[in-house]
Amino acid sequence: MDYEALIRAELGPMRPYAPGLRASEVRELSGRDDVRKLSSNENPYGPFPGALAGMRSVLAKLNVYPDGSVRALKRRLCEHLGIADEHLVVGNGSNELLRLIAQAVLGPGDECVFAWPSFVVYPMVCQLMGATEVRVPLGEGEVHDLPAMADAITERTKLVFLCNPNNPTGTIYSRAEFEAFLDRVPEHALVVVDEAYFEYTTSADYPDGLRYFDGLRGLGVLRTFSKIYSLAGARVGYGAFPEPLASALNKIREPFNVNTVAQVGAFYSLDDEAEVRRRRDENQEQKIRLYACFDRLGVSYVPSQTNFVYVHSVKPVEVFQALLSHGVIVRDFGTAPAVRVGVGSPDDTSVTIAAFEAVVAKLGSL
Ligand SMILES: Cc1ncc(COP(=O)(O)O)c(C=O)c1O
Repeated sequence: MDYEALIRAELGPMRPYAPGLRASEVRELSGRDDVRKLSSNENPYGPFPGALAGMRSVLAKLNVYPDGSVRALKRRLCEHLGIADEHLVVGNGSNELLRLIAQAVLGPGDECVFAWPSFVVYPMVCQLMGATEVRVPLGEGEVHDLPAMADAITERTKLVFLCNPNNPTGTIYSRAEFEAFLDRVPEHALVVVDEAYFEYTTSADYPDGLRYFDGLRGLGVLRTFSKIYSLAGARVGYGAFPEPLASALNKIREPFNVNTVAQVGAFYSLDDEAEVRRRRDENQEQKIRLYACFDRLGVSYVPSQTNFVYVHSVKPVEVFQALLSHGVIVRDFGTAPAVRVGVGSPDDTSVTIAAFEAVVAKLGSL
C-alpha cells in the first residue's frame, strides 16, 4: 500500500507529542531509587481527599458508560464559575478541547496566531488541520507580546491562542495589556485563552479570562483539573465558549469523552477551596526557595506565576543530563536556551536545590 498517498499530507511534518521522561524510566536507566519528576508541571500530591473517595466509590460501576452529557459536573462547574450550561464544554483534558477547537474552526489557508515559545500543542493542532501557524516571539521578560500579536492578525486569522500564564516561561500579561489587545482583535478572529495554571497565579494584575467572558464576544477560556487539582491522570478539563462554538464542539467530541472517574474526581475537587489555597501557598513558598537558590548561584530565571520555573541556560542538554544524574528530571526543549523546572514538595525543592548546587559547581555556569 502507498501510505504516503493514504495518509493526509498535513501529517507528514508532524511529530508525536513527546512526554517528559517518566520517573520509573529514570529509575531504571540510572539505577537510582530517589528520582524527582519535575518535567510535566504535575502536582506533587495526590488528588484531593474528597475526590479520591468519590473516585474509589465508582470503580465497581465502570461496566456502565459515563454520563455522556456530564450533567452533575457541568451543573457544579456552572455554579462555581457563574456561567450558563450552554457555554460550558468538558473535555478529556483541556488538550482535547484545544484539538476540538482547531477542528471546528481551522482549515487549509486559515491562520492561527500564537506566541512562541508556548504550549507545544498549539502548533500541533494547527498542523493537524492544515492551517497556517503564525508564531509571534515572546517580548521583553518572556511575556506575550500582545501588540505584536494584534499586528499579526490578518483577514485570514481565525484563531488566536493565548497561554496565560505561559507554558514554558510561567509569565503573564497584565489586565491592561489584555484589554488593549481585545480592543484590537477584529470580529472574525476567535481568541482562546488557555488558563491551565490559573489556580496557581498570585499576581493582582492577572486578568482572569472568565471576567471578560460574556458569551457574546469571540472569546473562549480553557481550564483544567490536571494541575492544582492533581487529576492529570484522570483527564478532565473544561472551557467556556460562545454558545455556537460550544454547540460545534459538542457535535464533534466523542460521545463519552470524559470518563466516569474523571467526572466524579472533578466534581468533588470543587468542594475543597481550602486545599486549593493550601497548595497555591505551598507552591509559592517553594518557588521563593528556588529563586533564592538561583540568585545565590547566579542562575538566570524568569519569575513565574505557575508551578514551574524557566531557567536560562546556554547548554540546556548538558544541564538536563547533569540534573538527571542527581535524580532530578526537568524539561529541556531541544531548541529553547532554557530548561523548565517543576515546583514540587518541600522535599523535592531541597533535592532540586542540592542538584543545582552540584551542577553549577561541576559546569561552572548554566
Ligand atoms: C498551557 C497548557 N494547556 C493545556 C495543557 C493540557 O492540560 P490537560 O490536557 O491535562 O488538561 C497543559 C498541560 O501541560 C498546559 O501546560
